[in-house]
Amino acid sequence: MVKKLQQSMVVEYDRTGDTGVYELRRHPLTEPAPGEVVVEVICAGISHIDGFIREGRETDWVEPWPRRSGSCFAGVVVSGTRASRFPPGSEVIGHVRSGAHSTYVTVPEAALVAKPKSLAWEAAGGLFLAGATALDTLDELKIGPNDTVVISAAAGAVGSVEAQLARHRGATVIGTCGDRNFDYLRQLGIKPVRYGEGIVDRIRAAAGGPVTALIDNFGQDGHDIAAELGVPQSRYRSSADRRHTELRLLRDDPESVTRGTALLERLAQLAQARAFTLLISGLYPLEEISDAYLDLQKLHSRGKVLIGTHLVTTFRTLKARDVHEAAL
Ligand SMILES: NC(=O)c1ccc[n+]([C@@H]2O[C@H](COP(=O)([O-])OP(=O)(O)OC[C@H]3O[C@@H](n4cnc5c(N)ncnc54)[C@H](OP(=O)(O)O)[C@@H]3O)[C@@H](O)[C@H]2O)c1
Repeated sequence: MVKKLQQSMVVEYDRTGDTGVYELRRHPLTEPAPGEVVVEVICAGISHIDGFIREGRETDWVEPWPRRSGSCFAGVVVSGTRASRFPPGSEVIGHVRSGAHSTYVTVPEAALVAKPKSLAWEAAGGLFLAGATALDTLDELKIGPNDTVVISAAAGAVGSVEAQLARHRGATVIGTCGDRNFDYLRQLGIKPVRYGEGIVDRIRAAAGGPVTALIDNFGQDGHDIAAELGVPQSRYRSSADRRHTELRLLRDDPESVTRGTALLERLAQLAQARAFTLLISGLYPLEEISDAYLDLQKLHSRGKVLIGTHLVTTFRTLKARDVHEAAL
């Protein structure tokens, strides 16, 4: 049973547009259907694809109005019985087609995995879409110890997980980034290469041999760079490929949900084993979701931008990634 009088604060919007269309609305919580549970959301991730949908750029996106935002979350189960797989009090990580940017979310149990105790709420809340996109892409390309792989936007949300997991698989990883991220990538054992003119020569110098795969997260010139480096077409993934991967992960038919949850389960185990760390690029209260998206849209995240529902403080501090600009 859901505790009586519980209500959920939900981010919704009634029309496509910029971040100004978001509204935080109060909705009564309804009883979950059989096989569903209610989760009190502690932390949720935000992603570019959510923003593209909000802006109306994803013209094939089917969802009734008002629309909701957010697909990754971590929280505590507040409904159900002791006999269920995730009884009340269970700490979980989950995914949903949309609506994670809420204080409560009702989802099928099949969309949840147990949150490892050692994983911080922030890292758990941002795990699904970026992590599953990264893992799926590495699986598809069968990245392994014989690879030298170039990953663009390697300090960003998807790229940073991809780069760390490729390293974990034994590959040599070259990550493209701006100057501010060189030290960060080096700490992870990733060879940083500055994006921009002359990048192919810099990649060749860093690789010291053939480049066997290229994953373009940023999506400006990846195809040309891959061609110049002689990367086989079958081992090149474009930003458009990534978009397809993400949209597939957002499907909510039972087969897709099961597939997404299997990827999430592997990610939770890999995170627990410290095969990668999800870096937190910013943590905003639910009420400030527009600012969170504006931050993401600057395209200089280092890891994930997140939404929290129980923040100890909402005081804005200078972000490490902004210190670079501040010093110039
Ligand atoms: N095609 C699609 O449908 C699709 C879907 C999702 C995302 N995307 C795009 O993919 C990109 C990355 O998304 P994300 O969520 O992984 O990253 P993100 O978290 O937004 O991170 C952005 C990263 O991009 C790097 N970056 C900035 N300018 C760059 C450039 N010219 N070349 C290479 N890297 C650059 C930044 O590095 P520095 O801070 O060091 O500059 C930063 O680490 C975004 O541009 C997003 O719009 C496309």
